Amino acid sequence: FSLRQLNTFGIDARAQAYLPVAGVDTLRAVRDSKELAGWPRLVLGGGSNLLLTRDFPGLVLHMRSSGIEIVDEDEDYFYVRAAAGENWHRFVQWTLQQGLGGLENLSLIPGSVGAAPIQNIGAYGIEIKDRFHQLTAFDFVSGEVLTLDKAASRFGYRDSVFKHELRDRAVVLDVTFALPKSWRPNVNYADVAQALNDAGITAPTPQQIADAVIAIRSRKLPDPAQIGNAGSFFKNPIVSAQQRDALTQQHPTLVSYRQDDGSYKLAAGWLIDQCGWKGKSLGAAGVYPKQALVLVNLGGASGADVAGLAHAIQSDVQARFGVLLEPEPVFI
Ligand code: EPU
Repeated sequence: FSLRQLNTFGIDARAQAYLPVAGVDTLRAVRDSKELAGWPRLVLGGGSNLLLTRDFPGLVLHMRSSGIEIVDEDEDYFYVRAAAGENWHRFVQWTLQQGLGGLENLSLIPGSVGAAPIQNIGAYGIEIKDRFHQLTAFDFVSGEVLTLDKAASRFGYRDSVFKHELRDRAVVLDVTFALPKSWRPNVNYADVAQALNDAGITAPTPQQIADAVIAIRSRKLPDPAQIGNAGSFFKNPIVSAQQRDALTQQHPTLVSYRQDDGSYKLAAGWLIDQCGWKGKSLGAAGVYPKQALVLVNLGGASGADVAGLAHAIQSDVQARFGVLLEPEPVFI
């Protein structure tokens, strides 16, 4: 079974078997099946955060569940639940159409609702953890449906419990968000503030912020339907204040952001750009000319081509800045 249509990098790897999953019953059936229970499993949502480095010798479970509803409200929040298989951006738009603000900064992020908490997707000053209430997940070990609240999900920068203890074990079924009744715009990110300013908007609505984010993303990031990619290919590395100060002395234009704990996040795109990689390629894998943090499939690239380019970039950045870039997508 070809996975080419199921990963946004457009890599033509194959899986032994494929099963669309409409709900928990399918997952239970797989777990209970004598034939399938021992197979390696790969759970796919939108396929926008993975790099297929070779064929997958097992079963692909493609989350296709649907449904969005406002399930509850209290004094402070509306609670909105969406099934794992829903497209993330369509879900965000649905909330905006209902007049609910809170997710607008996360507009146009590729992928599915179920995948969003796994890497705690974030953009333009908001992470999913800031709007998260709880989720349910099927546990392949116990066969039970787990409910995880925010603490149990252990969110970090592009990180959660699903990348650690629950990796290869729990499959997200649905996610419930808490959207604030007293909504306030988050326009701390310079690009967003600039776009609103250019449009002459001083008191933006959630929809106007969404429109600004959509415009910025469309300008900077390649549309996976046109050019294969998985968004940022590396995480922005976090270094100590000491290391950041030393680097700034050597490279005065270094882009860094102070974190709450006093450490600094460096702009990986800037580091890669400085090494001269922007717009360059290695085989059929390239560095996007408008954003050096995004690796692209120039046509017919294999996972190994992309991994090769990623390694070359990592070693250049390491040699020049002494910083190790960690990939953001999951390597299969
Ligand atoms: N920069 C360069 N050269 C480049 C790219 C960036 O010098 O080629 C500099 C920019 O000038 C800017 C800084 O690096 O000062 C940051 O760039 P940008 O605002 O484009 O954001 P980013 O740090 O590269 C992160 C997220 C994105 C998210 C944006 C906006 C990560 C790994 N990436 O990118 O998330 O959309 O911020 O919040 O944290 C993703 O995870 O797939 C993703 C696209």
